[in-house]
Amino acid sequence: MKKEVKYDKYVNPEPCTIVSCRDKDGHDNALAVGFIGNVSFDPKIIMIAIIDKRFSHHIIKEQKEFVVNIPTDEHIDIVRYLGTVSGRDVNKLENIKTIDADIVNAPLIVDCPVNFECSVIDSIKPGTHEVFFGRVEKVHCDEEYIDELGFIKWKEMNVLHSLNSNLM
Ligand SMILES: Cc1cc2nc3c(=O)[nH]c(=O)nc-3n(C[C@H](O)[C@H](O)[C@H](O)COP(=O)(O)O)c2cc1C
Repeated sequence: MKKEVKYDKYVNPEPCTIVSCRDKDGHDNALAVGFIGNVSFDPKIIMIAIIDKRFSHHIIKEQKEFVVNIPTDEHIDIVRYLGTVSGRDVNKLENIKTIDADIVNAPLIVDCPVNFECSVIDSIKPGTHEVFFGRVEKVHCDEEYIDELGFIKWKEMNVLHSLNSNLM
């Protein structure tokens, strides 16, 4: 027997991520992003969906570059912070270690074991969120999570689940 249910999200993509970006004046910002997905193998494209009132929205829209950082369970406090406080009010990355990405003009969050450098190739706004399609320019991974063939050992990483009860 099935019944109709209420929902605020259609699916619950995993993992929860941190997207970082840099504005035209060189100021860095980052926000938690749960609305993310794979789009294409070749070229490699991922999508992120950002509400336009987020401070990061105009930065990504204008600069057309961002980094997707993959946090693990131990980064839950950072994700909650970046996902509740706005860069409009404070410098959120002040106490978070970052380094410059190699190809795009945006910071990588060092403590996150995987980072995807992306450049925006397109965007659409079908509803509340603007969907940015990012071509993956380079993927970084902590050595301990790279297997002998050069792939990411996802199963060994405790990626953060969007539905973690301490997060939402
Ligand atoms: C777990 C989690 C997931 C989130 N996912 C998204 C998302 O996919 N898209 C979005 O626009 N906001 C999302 N948010 C909200 C933003 O991260 C939050 O509003 C943030 O403070 C915006 O920062 P900014 O104003 O500095 O850009 C999420 C928040 C949390 C805690």
